[in-house]
Amino acid sequence: MCGIVGYIGTQEAQSILINGLQRLEYRGYDSAGVAIIGDDGLQIKKTKGKVHDLESTIEGAPLQGSVGIGHTRWATHGPPNDVNAHPHDSTGSTFALVHNGIIENYNAIRKKLAEKGYTFQSDTDTEVLVRLIEDVRRATDLPLEEAVRQALTQVVGTYGIAVVSEEDPDLLIAARKGSPLILGIGDGEYFIGSDAAPLVEHTRQVVYLSDGEMVTVRRSGYTVRTIDNVELEKEVHELEWDLSEIQKGGYDHFMLKEIMEQPTALEDCMRGRVLPDQQQITLGGLHQVIDDLRDADRIIIAACGTSWHSGLVGEYLIESMARIPVEVEYASEFRYRNPVLRKGDVVLVISQSGETADTLAAVREARRRGIPCIGICNVVGSTIARETDAGVYLHAGPEIGVASTKAFTAQVTVLTMLALKLAEGRTLSTAEMAHNLQALAAVPDKVREVLAMDEEIEDMANVYRYAANFLYLGRGYNFPVALEGALKLKEISYIHAEGYPAAEMKHGPIALIDRFMPVVFIAMKDSTYDKVVSNIEEVAARDGSVIAITDEGNGELDDLCEYVLRIPKTEEFLTPLLTAIPLQLLSYHIAVMRGCHVDQPRNLAKSVTVE
Ligand code: F6R
Repeated sequence: MCGIVGYIGTQEAQSILINGLQRLEYRGYDSAGVAIIGDDGLQIKKTKGKVHDLESTIEGAPLQGSVGIGHTRWATHGPPNDVNAHPHDSTGSTFALVHNGIIENYNAIRKKLAEKGYTFQSDTDTEVLVRLIEDVRRATDLPLEEAVRQALTQVVGTYGIAVVSEEDPDLLIAARKGSPLILGIGDGEYFIGSDAAPLVEHTRQVVYLSDGEMVTVRRSGYTVRTIDNVELEKEVHELEWDLSEIQKGGYDHFMLKEIMEQPTALEDCMRGRVLPDQQQITLGGLHQVIDDLRDADRIIIAACGTSWHSGLVGEYLIESMARIPVEVEYASEFRYRNPVLRKGDVVLVISQSGETADTLAAVREARRRGIPCIGICNVVGSTIARETDAGVYLHAGPEIGVASTKAFTAQVTVLTMLALKLAEGRTLSTAEMAHNLQALAAVPDKVREVLAMDEEIEDMANVYRYAANFLYLGRGYNFPVALEGALKLKEISYIHAEGYPAAEMKHGPIALIDRFMPVVFIAMKDSTYDKVVSNIEEVAARDGSVIAITDEGNGELDDLCEYVLRIPKTEEFLTPLLTAIPLQLLSYHIAVMRGCHVDQPRNLAKSVTVE
């Protein structure tokens, strides 16, 4: 969702804020703005469009000053335009505020404030919060930080906010509830960011604000207190990110860079955890809960989007290896449908960002009902990572491309390790364990081989780039990969695509088959291969145009398919780690050929922190 950046120190704020917004642009990109306090007071520049449009508006007339805030927007209330862009300023323009989240009771507050004579220029809930702060000040004459705090006690909903004021140029205020914020600590200077991306080139020392906390920052230091006004001592953490990890590194797009990073991401994910020589899996973060997990009557996996797809692979893995019943839930449904949760259940949430509002809500629901909750996250220190009882990090490195790629394969890798760990000494013999661990450790090199097929996949993309619809079909472990392939294509190329279990085709989707609709089959030589081949025959018989992904050396499908991609053989349970990759590359190349903005697809944003 929206990205927030803030700075207070001795350097000129403008370039730090603009640079920070560029790093945060993957969170939202329909408008952008900055507010800086200079010698002449509060200056605001904001515009519909991307951060480079904002840069153009300030070119030639830089904003001077060493304290400021910036925002890149993903619209919730009101269309993307200059007026709705943040920052929003107070009447008389003395202070300015940026906001990520949704003020749910904004209509009621707006009505009351309008009755008192306040006027509103924008359609946003954010401007209502600004007027509310003004109103608190007018009534009480409190310092700004106190007025902000009191105003926040009156709002319902979610917020990450940052505020600066010309009345106090040595003040930067930030607060959060439901929308992440991090404070970066420099030498006589401080930074605020929605995540670590805008901070990493300035400092590694960070404080993660928790929900209901507010930080008042001055050049001389900072104070964190709760919205209820209790002062807190916060732990300072060390950031693990490297600047190079959040740069494109010579690639045209972050998405391609992250696809290509998968061999190393998976190696990092397995490092010190997959120990084939000792026939062991070590998952340090689960040490204290592993027995509860092994003894669980049921594991409920909750996640959204791509993470939900990896959860489905997890269901197949855990059930078949460890024989523990697993259910996979959309996190957004889980919390509202009053799920049956019993003693003996364990909830496992999966989230790349660790900030997805629906997944976080599932964590809170499970914990509220006394159910242990385990997290699989990529972003270290993220809210879900901090609020779960235990967990496993992906260690896949930052994922900036809005379409999730390396996080998917790393999530599946963690779930594979978890399934093996749960099966260890119970359902798998030592010999089977040794064999499986060897096979898992060999996956990154096989991923390298699949990535080497990039040109072949690009040629194929050229043939199918004009298709209006795609169908993706797979069975068993590769049914979730079919769903993921369809999601990747639709989100970045805007082509309608659907994923199905291959055998379901006969129950409806077969009606769609004609020669204009490419059907992508994942047809690995596994336990369901023969059945999948029958499904391919059914499509071919109806003049459908089939693309198949199968094992190297398999020539049996050549007569039935327009394209056959042959990828290295591996164990059946590991195939999703390989089959997902050609589908990522196919989507990527089709989107590029169609002129789509691959890293910032329309209407989407990384890290969905609103419901
Ligand atoms: C798809 C995609 C989204 C996310 C979903 C969950 O490419 O990126 O579907 O997977 O929004 O996000 P996380 O994993 O951060 O909870």
